Amino acid sequence: MKNRILEELKSNNGQAVSGEDISKKLGISRTAVWKHIKKLRGEGYVIESQTNSGYKLIENPDILSLSELEPFLYTGFIGRSIIYLDNVTSTNTYAKKAAEEPFEEGTVIIAEEQTAGKGRLGRLWVSPKGKGIWMTIMLKPDILPVDAPKLTIAAAHAVVKAFLRCCRLDARIKWPNDITVGSKKICGILTEMSAEGDEIKYVVIGIGINANIGLEDFGPEISNIATSVKLESGRCVSRKALAASVLNEFEEVYKAFVRDGSIRSFLNEYKDKSAVLGKEIRIISKKEEITGFALDISEEGHLVVRLADGSVRDIMSGEVSVRGVHEYI
Ligand code: BTN
Repeated sequence: MKNRILEELKSNNGQAVSGEDISKKLGISRTAVWKHIKKLRGEGYVIESQTNSGYKLIENPDILSLSELEPFLYTGFIGRSIIYLDNVTSTNTYAKKAAEEPFEEGTVIIAEEQTAGKGRLGRLWVSPKGKGIWMTIMLKPDILPVDAPKLTIAAAHAVVKAFLRCCRLDARIKWPNDITVGSKKICGILTEMSAEGDEIKYVVIGIGINANIGLEDFGPEISNIATSVKLESGRCVSRKALAASVLNEFEEVYKAFVRDGSIRSFLNEYKDKSAVLGKEIRIISKKEEITGFALDISEEGHLVVRLADGSVRDIMSGEVSVRGVHEYI
C-alpha cells in the first residue's frame, strides 16, 4: 500500500494530491494514508503537506528499493523482483537462505547496510549504511557446477561496463573477483553456490560497490587498499542509477553466457580491462603461493601464468597481487 501511495504521488508530476482522493482511490482511510506518508518520510522522501490541496512529493531519496530502481532498469528478469532491506547481516547469507525455497530467477537482495558483510576468505566487508551498493543476485543457471566460477567473470565484466557507462570511471578487473581503480579496490564479488552432483541448486552472486564511501568510513588501514566512486570522481554517485546499470549490464552478459554456454562472446572485452595480464604477479591459494607472469585468461575463466622455470600453469582460483604495485594480503 505504501508503494501504491508513492506511485500516486509520483504520477502526479510534482502536483499535490489530496489525502481524500488517495483514500478513495485505494480504498483505505485517510488516517491510513497519513501513516504511510509518515513511513515514506522516514525513508527519506520529502513530502510536503498542504492544508487545502494535500500531499506533494518534493524529492526522492537515493535508496535502492524497487520503486526507485525501476525507472533505471531495462532488464527482463534480473532485478524485477527485489527484496529491499534496511539492514541485514549479509545479503549473500540472506539470499542463500531464500534460495532454499523456490525463487524467481534474477531476484536481487539489496540492503542499505550490512552488519556482517562477507568478503572472500572469511574477511569482513565494510558496508556502511546508505553509502554503497550491497546486493546479491539469485540465479539457477542450467550449467555444470564446475562452470559456476565463470559467473564471477561475467559479473566483474558487467560491473566494469556499468562503471564506465554510469560514472565514466575506467575500472580494471583484478582476476578473479576484484574491481580496482589504480591499485585500490572499489568493488568485490563473492559468488557462492549449492549443488548436488552435476545439478546446481542455486548460485548467488554478491556484489559490493563502494559508491559514496568517504575516507572517514574506511578508516586509515582500509583506505590504503580501498577506494570509492566518490573518492575517485570527487562527487557522489546516484546509487540507484549505478545499481540498475550493473543489473542491466549483468543481464546482457548472463544471457550471452547461458546461450553460448561460454564466456567467449565477452572474453576479449573482459581481458582488455584486466589489471593483471602482462604483469608479474603473486598468487596465494589455499594450497600454495606462486609467482609468475600473467599471460592470458582462458575460456574456462582460468588465469594462465608462466612460472619462473618457463612452464605454463592454469590457475583456477586464488588471491592475486600485482607485484611491485600492491601486496594484497
Ligand atoms: C571480496 O572481494 O572479498 C568479496 C566482497 C563481496 C561483498 C559483497 S557485498 C554484497 C554481498 N554480501 C556479502 O556479504 N558479500 C557480498
